[in-house]
Amino acid sequence: MSDLITAWSPDQKNAFGRTPITFQHELVESRLFEDEALARVLDAYPAELYDINLFDFDADGQHTMRTGARGRRSGQEVLEGVKEGRIWVQLRRAEAWYPQLGDLIKEAFAGISGQAQGFRPIQLNGQLILSAPGAKVPFHADAPGVVLFHLRGRKRIWIYPADEAHMPQQGMENILLKQQTEDLPYRREMDAAAQVFDLEPGMAAAWPLHAPHRIENLGTFNVSLSVDYQTWASRLTNGAHYANGVFRRWGLPVAAMDKTPAFARAGLWAASLGLKRARLVEDRIKGLERSFELGMDTPAEARP
Ligand SMILES: [Fe+2]
Repeated sequence: MSDLITAWSPDQKNAFGRTPITFQHELVESRLFEDEALARVLDAYPAELYDINLFDFDADGQHTMRTGARGRRSGQEVLEGVKEGRIWVQLRRAEAWYPQLGDLIKEAFAGISGQAQGFRPIQLNGQLILSAPGAKVPFHADAPGVVLFHLRGRKRIWIYPADEAHMPQQGMENILLKQQTEDLPYRREMDAAAQVFDLEPGMAAAWPLHAPHRIENLGTFNVSLSVDYQTWASRLTNGAHYANGVFRRWGLPVAAMDKTPAFARAGLWAASLGLKRARLVEDRIKGLERSFELGMDTPAEARP
């Protein structure tokens, strides 16, 4: 077993992927997440894999998002900007572009596979996320599975059931068909059904595939590593949602995914490969533009 994953309680052994869980990890020991190391990575990171987001929330928890670019700011200045503003920086594909972190991710997942029976990821993608003391991530669901390793600061995560009331099947089809971003309709009453965890450095959280969630930082600068994973089961399910989404557009009947057995999902997944190649449905989210640049035209609240 990897030493990176510790304190996995026995009653959670078979719970991975079935219910929201937290466990302990030791990624912080690597010292890859201290200011100096982060500033260096921010300096060197490829611009196209570097997102700067700013969310505005109203009293009902509804949000608008603006996406920016780093401009000519140094890594140190971006880091200061995150610590003081409401922005949120995400470095995508960290498993490939930050090799030391890539090794750590592999080791951590070897540790998880050693603990969670039958968990065999076939693909891992890491996002290193730096977020401001007042940052919030709105209610959304991710298409792949996710493990969130918390590294610095404190944050609260609300995890909701992956049922029709919180995560409508058609919504996931639209996410996979790239007809909508991963944001979903949210109402405050939904919080009654959520499990809530306060994450401290050294804690990780994981939840069932497609379970919606939202996050609020608790007044401190936060660093987290979010790792998306695919297993064969998640790949078949997502392929089935994709095929269902196309069939629904053609007016064909679509069965509920929780009533679709594994062999039928595999058939739908196989169909999705051909449908994807045929590009029958236009990607509606690739045109989302970066609306500000850190520097002169930065919205005041994001300005360092
Ligand atoms: Fe997420």
